[in-house]
Amino acid sequence: MSLVQWVELKEMGDERGSLVAIEAARTVPFEIMRTYFIYGTQPGVSRGFHAHRALKQLAVCVAGRCLMHLDNGKEKADVWLDSPTKAILIEGLVWREMHDFSPDCVLLVLASEHYDESDYIRDYQSFLKAVQK
Ligand code: TYD
Repeated sequence: MSLVQWVELKEMGDERGSLVAIEAARTVPFEIMRTYFIYGTQPGVSRGFHAHRALKQLAVCVAGRCLMHLDNGKEKADVWLDSPTKAILIEGLVWREMHDFSPDCVLLVLASEHYDESDYIRDYQSFLKAVQK
C-alpha cells in the first residue's frame, strides 16, 4: 500500500458555484463511523503527532489548506491538502502531523471507528517499534 493515496472528489460545479458529494461505500472504502473537523487553528500551531493501530481516515480541506506529513516508518511524505476535491486516504500504521494551517482552514476527516484513545500511538519511538513488529 502506497503511503500517499489520493482520492479525487468529483466537483459538480455550475454557474451557482461548487458542490462535492462524499458517499459511504462509493467514495470512501470503509464504513464511516465518525466525522470530525478541525478549524480555527491558531497561527503556528501543528496538530496530530500520532499514529493509529486500526483506524482508517479520509481527510480533505474543504476550505483553506494545511500541510500533511505522513511517515510509515520507511518512507516520509509532505503533501498539501489545498483543494476541496483532493482527499487523502490514510490507513495502516502511519505517523501523521498537520502543519501550516491557513487561517481559513477547515479540515474534514471521515473515520472508520468511533473515537478510541487506545487506538492511538502518541510516542514516535513506540510507533517505530510497532512498525518493526
Ligand atoms: P487530538 O487527538 O489532540 O487532535 P489532533 O491529534 O488532531 O491534534 O484531539 C483533541 C481532543 O479532542 C482530545 O481531547 C480528544 C478529543 N477528540 C474526541 O473526543 N473525538 C475525536 O473524534 C477526536 C479526533 C478527538
